[in-house]
Amino acid sequence: MTGASFASDNHAGVHPEIMAAIVAANEGFVSAYGDDPISGHATELLRAEFGGEVGVFPVFNGTGANVVALAGLLRPYEAVVCTSIAHINVDECGAPERFIGSKLLDVEPVDGKLTIAGIESMVWGIGDPHHVQAKAISITQSTELGTVYSLDEIRAITSWAHERNMFVHLDGARIANAAAALGVRPGALGADVGVDMISFGATKNGAMGVEAIIVLNPELNESMHFFRKQSMQLASKMRFMSAQIVALMTDDLWLRNAAHANAMSRRLADAVGDLVEINNNVQVNAIFAMVDRDVSAQLSSEFPFYIWNEFTGQVRWMTSWQTTEADVDAFAARLRELVEAG
Ligand SMILES: Cc1ncc(COP(=O)(O)O)c(C=O)c1O
Repeated sequence: MTGASFASDNHAGVHPEIMAAIVAANEGFVSAYGDDPISGHATELLRAEFGGEVGVFPVFNGTGANVVALAGLLRPYEAVVCTSIAHINVDECGAPERFIGSKLLDVEPVDGKLTIAGIESMVWGIGDPHHVQAKAISITQSTELGTVYSLDEIRAITSWAHERNMFVHLDGARIANAAAALGVRPGALGADVGVDMISFGATKNGAMGVEAIIVLNPELNESMHFFRKQSMQLASKMRFMSAQIVALMTDDLWLRNAAHANAMSRRLADAVGDLVEINNNVQVNAIFAMVDRDVSAQLSSEFPFYIWNEFTGQVRWMTSWQTTEADVDAFAARLRELVEAG
């Protein structure tokens, strides 16, 4: 019998309020493809959050959100700057390259993030037909290394981009965790900081499976209907996806879930900080740590988690809305036993 999983926030189940909303949506006949009252309500709630005019396009998953969003920003000869560890670069099986046909210009991150210097190193040859034309920048918030861009860091990137007629996409698979860590609402990570398009994540924050593309730049809105359908991301029975968004945006469930997940990682970091070397500033729901390989082999057979880096033995521990204090304490106690025995 294994304990709680610390492998991914995707290992968590569906939050009961979201499951109840899906069940409640299962009433009678409604129009398909988003032309139903629940989808209308989801759009209203996301517009209340991000601004009255934003485009809202629910999709099935995070890879789909990123690919469709980038399709809306790029022509095939245009490129997107991202970090080398960006999900779009290493965890989407080349879907952006295949479906958009665009090149990804990846740079080494600093603390998991893009910097202006890093971006600058990739944006050259503009106007030269021998070079791809860097047209978009994609940042991940919170990052793949569990760090968070400050609002000023995002503003610096969007200002730099807009001065060069470039767009900024935000991969918000964990936007709620980032917002909770910054003490702001998700809406503060949109137009106020100059982002053009967001992949708004819900699945990792307690949904069964839905994300939404939020289009903040009105000139990009119209084509998204077509890109979404052509990319096979338009759900016919949209009400069940929209119900999840409605539940997440009701009574700040997004915040309750994300703040809890973040707090569980903090609790774990505090409990084991004297035992292992923690490599990241634990701001959201992920911890990266160096653990003896024998210890991590035994511990992960009892509480699943990933070896993040096969070469160094670095591990990643993630918490979610579902992780309890007791789960964290049991994990930390077992780690202590194994380290002290070792
Ligand atoms: C940063 C980031 N972006 C996007 C995704 C979405 O991926 P999926 O297509 O599995 O929903 C993930 C999931 O792990 C992620 O970590």
